[in-house]
Amino acid sequence: MNAANRMSTDQASTLRKLVNTDKPQKGQTPNKRKVRVISVTSGKGGVGKTNITINLAYALSKMGRKVFILDADLGLANIDVLLNISPPFNIEHVLSGEKNINDIIVNGPANIRILPASSGISEMAELDRDEQMKLFRKLSEIDQTMDYLLVDTGAGISSNVLRFNSTADEIMLVVTPEPTSMTDAYSVIKILASKYHIRKFNLIANAVESKAEGRAVYDRLHKVVHDFLQIELRYSGFVLRDPALTKSVRMQKPLLEVFPKAPASKCFMAMAKFLDAQSTTLPALETNTKPTKFWDRLMHWKRKR
Ligand SMILES: Nc1ncnc2c1ncn2[C@@H]1O[C@H](COP(=O)(O)OP(=O)(O)OP(=O)(O)O)[C@@H](O)[C@H]1O
Ligand SMILES: [Mg+2]
Repeated sequence: MNAANRMSTDQASTLRKLVNTDKPQKGQTPNKRKVRVISVTSGKGGVGKTNITINLAYALSKMGRKVFILDADLGLANIDVLLNISPPFNIEHVLSGEKNINDIIVNGPANIRILPASSGISEMAELDRDEQMKLFRKLSEIDQTMDYLLVDTGAGISSNVLRFNSTADEIMLVVTPEPTSMTDAYSVIKILASKYHIRKFNLIANAVESKAEGRAVYDRLHKVVHDFLQIELRYSGFVLRDPALTKSVRMQKPLLEVFPKAPASKCFMAMAKFLDAQSTTLPALETNTKPTKFWDRLMHWKRKR
């Protein structure tokens, strides 16, 4: 091959590389996917949000996805406790200017990336408007790409929780068969629908005795929100009540890591597969693997009265 031919072949391959940046390599996450920002929330507290966030993140990571967890329960941070990690720095250090947002990200089990919250700020409301703006601007400076950003919110309808739920791409509402969990979930849906025009919700039935009970929880809530609010409630699956989960909490490790064969572990795996399968059918796949629009929405969010 002469020099001119070699040059044009090299040039062609360079051009091909430039054009084909989206082409997935073997074993690599195809990056022609849109990052999915999913808030994990509930009406009633203590229904399993943090454990679901951690185990879904773990399962998705094991499937080769790059997963971030944002501990949005600012002030009552639980993710680090449940994973037995002591992040040296958190969002507070970013706000004070001591640290860059990229410096506080910690790697958890299965290489889940965690954005540690602070235990010093008891509520977002305690941050003044300028500090809130600063925090969201800093979050948008995260320079890593991701497939999933799971946002573990607090329970209820505080401004902070409403903010994360109404700005996420998808909402996962965690409900147990307890009547108060169901009525509180209904209240959350009602507020997010009436004030923030959210029309789609996903339900996870947690701590159920059987697959049938999970379905029954979904059917009951679905009927009410459909009849009274004309809302689409989709079923994301169920997690069995499992003593192994309680044990994993005491061990401060993800259930999937310590008891991968436990009944609830199988539920988490099935749910992660179901969730991830939706990614390939999502319309208008973008090459954007940073949640730029989400950070932007967070920054410009206003509470509606
Ligand atoms: N599927 C399950 N099987 C058995 N126990 C469970 C299950 N899910 C949750 N629990 C129990 O509920 C407790 C609370 O779970 P978790 O901390 O995940 O709830 P949460 O919704 O994040 O709470 P908070 O509202 O305080 O943030 C766990 O420590 C565990 O003991
Ligand atoms: Mg929690």
